[in-house]
Amino acid sequence: MIIGNQHDVTSAVLAEAARTSDPRAREILEVGIRHLHGFVRDARLTENEFRHLCNVIARLGQATSASHNEVTLAAGSLGLSSLVCLLNSDSGATGTTASLMGPFWRHGSPRTESGGSIVRSPTAGDPVFVKAWVHDPQGRPVAGAEVDVWHASPEGYYENQDSQQADMNLRGRFTTDADGHFAFRTVKPAGYPVPVDGPVGALLRMQGRHNMRPAHLHFMIHKPGYKVQFSQVYSSDDPNLETDAQFGVTRRLIAHYERHDGAAPAPDVSGPWYSLERRFVIEPGVAQLPQPPITGRNSGARPLLTVLTRRP
Ligand SMILES: [Fe+2]
Repeated sequence: MIIGNQHDVTSAVLAEAARTSDPRAREILEVGIRHLHGFVRDARLTENEFRHLCNVIARLGQATSASHNEVTLAAGSLGLSSLVCLLNSDSGATGTTASLMGPFWRHGSPRTESGGSIVRSPTAGDPVFVKAWVHDPQGRPVAGAEVDVWHASPEGYYENQDSQQADMNLRGRFTTDADGHFAFRTVKPAGYPVPVDGPVGALLRMQGRHNMRPAHLHFMIHKPGYKVQFSQVYSSDDPNLETDAQFGVTRRLIAHYERHDGAAPAPDVSGPWYSLERRFVIEPGVAQLPQPPITGRNSGARPLLTVLTRRP
C-alpha cells in the first residue's frame, strides 16, 4: 500500500497484521497496533518525544542482566504487572490471593522440610514463624503443592544482589502436607527501595514518587492441575502500603504479624518473636511455570541503596 496520509499508515500496518496465521497472535498484534497508533495520536507525540521513548525502551533491555530485570521492574512501576495478575485471577467475593511475580524469583530454591528455616547465613532481624495453608476454591486442602518462598533481608537486599548473603539465603521450597499445610522460620522482613539507577529511577523521579516497597514475603505455588500462583504477603505495620512502588498491595494480601515476648517455638530465640498465619486459594488451571526474571547473582559488591522521597 502506498501511504497517502497518517491514517493510511494504521490501515497498512493492520492489513499486514491480518496475515498472521496464529489467531491469538493476530488478535494481540491487531489490538496492540490500534492502541499504539491511538496513543501516538492522543498524546500528539512529537518526533523528539518518540525518539526519547525508543531510547528508554532500549535502555530497559540494556539495564537487564542475569541478576537484575529492569523490564519487569518497569512493568511493575507502571502497574502493568498488577493489572495482568488481577485481570487473570478469579477475585471472587474476598479477592484473590494472587499477586505480581516481581523481578526477584529464582529457580532452584533449596528444598526445605516443613517447619525448617530459610535463614542460610547470619541475617539480623526478629525471628518469624510462619504457618500457611493452600486450599482450592471450595476450601479443600491442596496436598503435594510445591511452594517457593523468598524475601529481601531486613537490610533491603535479595541474596542475588548481595555478596554478604549466602547463595539462596531467605529462599526455600516446601511441599504441602495432607492438610495443605507448610511452615517455615525466617526473619521479619522490612520494606526496601527498588533500584533507581536505570530508566525506572528516571520514571519515579519524574513523578515525584518514592521507590519503596512495603515489607513483604513472596510465594509461588505450583501443582499440576492448578494455575501457578504468585503471591505476596504485606506487613500491616508498614507505612508504605498505600504507595507501593509496584502497586501490588490489595486488602486480601495485608497480614498482621503477631508479636510474642514469651517462650518461642525454638530454643535459640531469647527476645521478641513473631508468628504469621496465611491461607492461599489456588484455582484449577494449567500449571505453567514462567521463565524466571533472573538466573543468577551479582558478582560485585552489594549495590548502594538509594531511597527517593515522595513529593508532597
Ligand atoms: Fe519483593
